[in-house]
Amino acid sequence: MTQASGASDVPSMGRRQFMNLLTWGSTTGVVLGGLYPVVRYFIPPSTGGGGGGVVAKDALGNDVLASAFLAEHAVGDRTLVQGLKGDPTYLVVEGPDAIRDYGISAICTHLGCVVPWNASESKFICPCHGSQYDETGKVVRGPAPLSLALAHVEVNDDTVSLTTWTETDFRTGDAPYWA
Ligand code: FES
Repeated sequence: MTQASGASDVPSMGRRQFMNLLTWGSTTGVVLGGLYPVVRYFIPPSTGGGGGGVVAKDALGNDVLASAFLAEHAVGDRTLVQGLKGDPTYLVVEGPDAIRDYGISAICTHLGCVVPWNASESKFICPCHGSQYDETGKVVRGPAPLSLALAHVEVNDDTVSLTTWTETDFRTGDAPYWA
């Protein structure tokens, strides 16, 4: 048998205690919320940043090895790998034995579509709204407001890794908006 429920259903707690609890909860919430920026100020900005680079992964989730990558791709190829934060990033084959020392994010700066490389036009052309980027990822036609993000590419013991590009964007002379 169930009992009918009603407005006085707060078990074993008087209305005054219940109201006190609500008041205490909302007060401490406000205080803690107010403290958050202060606490945050004292946390070093690098905390939790992942400590630098990631190993580039191929479409199957395997580490990208430079020797195999260069054997499989021709000079000028731009090939998507999984990069920083898991973002799709182009590695560029610079020469027969060289991967370009920077990778180019494939995420359109307009609304985030993945931008394919168009080899015949030597541009990245977004299929969503037509933004275009030159072969370095610099925006050359809107509506995209910014160039594609960059990442440093390093090869250590044949393993390809990517690290955040924190220096000036050489294509625009601006600070990197993505760092
Ligand atoms: Fe690329 Fe709009 S998302 S042009």
